[in-house]
Amino acid sequence: MVMKLASRAIAMLLISLSQAVWSSDTSSPALVGDAQRGADMAKLCTSCHGYQGRSVTSRYPSIAGMDEARFIAGMQSLRAGERGHLMASMTRGLSDQDIADLAAYYSRLAPQAQLEPHTQQEPRTEGADASVP
Ligand code: HEC
Repeated sequence: MVMKLASRAIAMLLISLSQAVWSSDTSSPALVGDAQRGADMAKLCTSCHGYQGRSVTSRYPSIAGMDEARFIAGMQSLRAGERGHLMASMTRGLSDQDIADLAAYYSRLAPQAQLEPHTQQEPRTEGADASVP
């Protein structure tokens, strides 16, 4: 009888423990992005998306100022290989936390309008100085 009570107590304890774990799992908030960490990782992205996500070519989208949720959704679908093979390889090694951090960083930057493809082919007249190779 004592044994029965004891094992029942243990069983109850285990159940409440597992419920605690379970409920903390389901109610855990979405990952909170760390913009500072994102800024460090953003060095990986500059070669294509430009300094601070401001692309200088229509080949790569500007990602500065993108909506945070859209950024995360976009990165996750690119990681899943749904489109864009360049980004599939870029995103393969990134965790959800990495993506959240990058999203936090880029979404806080001032946005830039996407460049139109034709702006690339137009001969540079004004502004084509020594700083532009
Ligand atoms: C090798 C070039 C390259 C690098 C490096 C690169 N990207 Fe991209 N990225 C692309 C291309 C190309 C696309 C367009 C893909 C598509 O939509 O098919 C893209 C698309 C995106 C998009 C989706 C934009 C949208 O409008 O949906 C996001 C977000 C993004 N990149 C973030 C990043 C981040 C963050 C990094 C650094 C970790 C990074 N990229 C590094 C080439 C690159």
